[in-house]
Amino acid sequence: MSVAIVGAGYVGLTTAACLAHLGHEVVCADIDSERVERLRKGEVPILEDGLPALIAEGLASKRLSFVVGAPVAARSAEIVFLCVQTPQGADGAADLSYVEQVAREIAPVLTPKAIVVNKSTVPVGSTRFVQRVLAEAGTPREHITVASNPEFLREGQAVHDFLHPDRIVIGCEDPESAVRVSELYRGVNAPVLVTDPASAEMIKYASNAFLATKVSFINAIANLCEAVDADVREVAIGMGYDARIGFQFLHPGPGFGGSCFPKDVAALLHTAREAGYDFRLLDGVVDVNVGQHQRIVDKVRVAAGKPLEEAQIAVWGLTFKADTDDLRDSPSLVIARSLLEAGAVVRAYDPAAGETAGALIPALDVRPDPYEASAGADVVALLTEWEELRWLDFERVRTLMRRPAIVDARNLLDPAAMRRRGFEYSGVGRR
Ligand code: UGA
Repeated sequence: MSVAIVGAGYVGLTTAACLAHLGHEVVCADIDSERVERLRKGEVPILEDGLPALIAEGLASKRLSFVVGAPVAARSAEIVFLCVQTPQGADGAADLSYVEQVAREIAPVLTPKAIVVNKSTVPVGSTRFVQRVLAEAGTPREHITVASNPEFLREGQAVHDFLHPDRIVIGCEDPESAVRVSELYRGVNAPVLVTDPASAEMIKYASNAFLATKVSFINAIANLCEAVDADVREVAIGMGYDARIGFQFLHPGPGFGGSCFPKDVAALLHTAREAGYDFRLLDGVVDVNVGQHQRIVDKVRVAAGKPLEEAQIAVWGLTFKADTDDLRDSPSLVIARSLLEAGAVVRAYDPAAGETAGALIPALDVRPDPYEASAGADVVALLTEWEELRWLDFERVRTLMRRPAIVDARNLLDPAAMRRRGFEYSGVGRR
């Protein structure tokens, strides 16, 4: 099938490269001409495992191409995916202005049988919204078909998640069009759920909000474990064996972040407010999350054993999770900023996003490796679970530090081993 993808972010690029890999003819459009130029040369602007190889494959087979501007891509496509950003507006609602702009641009050029598919995370009612915009902007009403096909891609594992999904969700009023969208995924082994657009849109928000709830729940349990001298790791394992609960998303930490959970939870709360439903459970999820950032700052203060304005802190890990270079809504940055505001000297290291973080927070002293970041520090705050941090030369770290204290906000390290090595260790919810 001939497919247009509008938006070359991590969702758009992954969708484009994977659909080309599955045998479709894909044209991916972005407004950023420099980004398009780089992509044409096979240069991938984001850190995403397996994506460079798939883009190279698509370019070589000529099934994948990149263009500037949505109409160029959309004018001959059977299916047009909208993969543009839906940032959080001031009131928490998802901002649909990019979606609207693209719909207006493509409306005059769509072929009569084209299906427009929302893959961006858009609130319930957005399928209708896109239908309305297309009609206003010149697509004849009888030619308009819009579907919702939400993505469930984790950053860093997006290619794997696209090709091995747990499910494919398609929301469309027209069953024939839903079948055409599902045909795109021929070759992918997963259940396909065809439903109405509003339910498809809600599935996306409910899934992210549920996962965020799991994270806040285990963070709250971890905090309680600290008060009653239990170990959250043991607790999570004991819970996870119950198949109804499962092991995933039960890792306590500095709170959830990234470009999806905080924004989607806020948008769902906004939807609930608009609908007159008081979603107190989800308010609690946000409260625990915000409190969790602060708890880590407090742990660092306690570990420093002195006022933060006299302390030197090493921050290891700045991205919102490991294996991505994404700093959006990263708890590490919130914590680093709080430490700086409290007057601490903060030296930071991140394997993928140090330079970008340094540009965002000029007061942050970004160092090229974790040892340099630790030199002279009173506390190391390990904030992102990069695998390489597990395997450092901790003897060297200890001798470099002014005071060997470590706050392991991801429970990445073994407490007993760290204490044996002479560190004052504190994790999250661990003995
Ligand atoms: C999330 C969802 O997992 C995807 O299914 C979804 O498609 C995507 O959002 C999206 O809406 O586009 P992602 O934001 O890449 O993916 O990150 P996750 O791996 O889900 O982690 C989210 C946050 O929760 C991170 O800050 C992570 O550190 C935190 N987390 C996750 C924990 O603190 N503990 C856990 O056990 C799991």
